[in-house]
Amino acid sequence: MARIEGHVTWLCVVVAMVVCLGGGVEAGRALLQATCPNPVLPDVNLPAYLGVWYEIGSTALIKTRTENSLACITARYSLIQSGPNAQSIRVRNEGYNTSSGEYSTVIGTASVTGRSLRVSFPPGPEADYRIIYLKGDAADRYDTAVVYSCDAGQTGGFQSLYILSRKPSLDSDESVAGIIEYARTQGITLEATNQFVLTDQDAITCGRNDD
Ligand SMILES: *[C@@H]1O[C@H](CO)[C@@H](O)[C@H](O)[C@H]1NC(C)=O
Repeated sequence: MARIEGHVTWLCVVVAMVVCLGGGVEAGRALLQATCPNPVLPDVNLPAYLGVWYEIGSTALIKTRTENSLACITARYSLIQSGPNAQSIRVRNEGYNTSSGEYSTVIGTASVTGRSLRVSFPPGPEADYRIIYLKGDAADRYDTAVVYSCDAGQTGGFQSLYILSRKPSLDSDESVAGIIEYARTQGITLEATNQFVLTDQDAITCGRNDD
């Protein structure tokens, strides 16, 4: 009896170890994804950030969840309220739906407190909106911006990255690969299933007349 019990106990220990190890790996993986990094946030001079931006690209889950079939995506930020501690800006995102042939627009609000922004597109929930990179004239107008959002609360965590430019393409001294690499140095790693995807900003598709 004692021998059998011993075997059973040992078996349990082995099973427990496998479960624990397996569980540990799973928990470790989930923990990695469910923990948001804290990238360095540059100072933002809000007026230089306002106006129209072209989306150069965004991450795959955003493309499938909210930007489904959208090309020619632009974002327009305008100031709606300015207070001593917080400001709010209106966000108007527009895109051309290549499936339906129609333009689609969503309007949201971003509240700005120092370097921290929260954006909401009612009736959706508020999302974290972090400007992690800015290039251009801070006293006048930024030319390139990178926005990162991370929600550790969602199953497995959910992160998104957007590259915005004042023109439909990046300046020649910037590259998507360079920006993704910069994000990586800030602790932002995009999962294999959530890689960066370019937005179609083709002049003909978007009805632009680029000289
Ligand atoms: C674009 O149009 C397709 C087909 O009508 C639709 O399923 C999809 O949700 C639309 N995308 C957006 C972002 O509204």
